[in-house]
Amino acid sequence: MYNFEYYTPTFIEFGKKSEEKVAQLIKAQNCKKVLIHYGGHSAKKSGLIDKIEKLLTEENIPYVELGGVVPNPRLSLVYKGIELAKKENVDFILAVGGGSVIDSAKAIGYGIANEGDVWDFYAQKRVTDKCVPVGVVLTIAAAGSEMSNSSVITNDETGLKRSYHTEISRPRFAIMNPEFTMTLPEYQTACGCTDIMMHTMERYFTAGETMELTDKIAESVMQIVLKNAPILLEQPDNYEARAEVMWAGSLSHNGLTGCGIKNKDFATHMLEHELGGVYDVAHGAGLAAVWGSWARYVYKECLGRFKKFAINVMNVEEVGSDEEIALKGIEAMEKFYHSIGMPTSIKELGLDLTDADIEKLADQCCDACGGHKGSAKVLYREDIVKIYKM
Ligand code: NZQ
Ligand code: ZN
Repeated sequence: MYNFEYYTPTFIEFGKKSEEKVAQLIKAQNCKKVLIHYGGHSAKKSGLIDKIEKLLTEENIPYVELGGVVPNPRLSLVYKGIELAKKENVDFILAVGGGSVIDSAKAIGYGIANEGDVWDFYAQKRVTDKCVPVGVVLTIAAAGSEMSNSSVITNDETGLKRSYHTEISRPRFAIMNPEFTMTLPEYQTACGCTDIMMHTMERYFTAGETMELTDKIAESVMQIVLKNAPILLEQPDNYEARAEVMWAGSLSHNGLTGCGIKNKDFATHMLEHELGGVYDVAHGAGLAAVWGSWARYVYKECLGRFKKFAINVMNVEEVGSDEEIALKGIEAMEKFYHSIGMPTSIKELGLDLTDADIEKLADQCCDACGGHKGSAKVLYREDIVKIYKM
């Protein structure tokens, strides 16, 4: 077990009617003006934005609003948000939506608090410890951005999808009413469940020492998602299942399942981010499309972990060689992805990539990660090309 730091400053208001606390939670931030930031249609259509605006008005909290965030959130809207927020003297951002809206809000927060081009932080040209505070009303269980230190933005001019991490960007509060997620299309529910599995697996498949307690928490998070995802596809308004998955989403990416583990893998995320940036695929579906190939490529170098995963998470019988057991675990995971309508190859994701496309994606991956990525197995450019081709 390695030494670790664990920092989760986000106040969680979880459950039915939790959105009614929004004005009170914002007031506690002592801010002057709020930017309410949201996505395309869902939060408007459900009446959630109207409800929040009414609650803020009743408490005399001034606000402006900016909608229009799309999945794989765009830098151009971030620039627009920064301009608006500066003009209006905004000093708090309320993100109403999912990972894309929250990440866009964090980027606007960096942009208000710092001079110069906000993309510099994502392009790793400079760093900052300043970000205007963000609060969240979560409408989809998936990215975990409501408690994470991360923001992922796509530069719409270059097609580069890049992340930036700072502890200061962790949201001050997250309001999580599982009922909000009942309107999600099946596909988005499945994408979200995939992302939650992946955030846990990225920390689980690691070289080096681990911690038994962390392993057991991670295995439970994964089992909860494996159990509840199929329930949600049958019964989208099952409150208990929505709640289990929503909380799993936050725990999978707030650092808890990484305690005592030194090197997180995150290679599958890196492979997906390039697909998302260039081809605008849904994050969870992109992850499912590459995970199986990644797993088959690396499992022999991380055999103990893959065996443990197969037995403890996928309920594979402990019969046969370690390699056979590990492979059965990977097969079971792919079977699960198929069962919830997720792709397990780039072709199934709907992309027909040429060798030249793959070379370009691999170049971009190497550019993003400084030449190598991974823990289960450290991947270099040639490995990345092979996995994309698989
Ligand atoms: O725009 P609207 O109309 O709201 O529609 C959204 C969007 O089309 C819809 N949706 C959200 N809540 C809904 C709903 N539809 C009906 N009912 C509701 N209650 O769902 C679609 C997807 O939303 P999005 O925010 O893109 O989903 P998600 O939360 O999966 O976020 C994905 C983004 O987060 C990044 C991903 O790369 C991707 O860009 N990630 C962010 C991370 C972080 N900041 O820590 C970590 C992740 O690994 C991930 O990379
Ligand atoms: Zn993710």
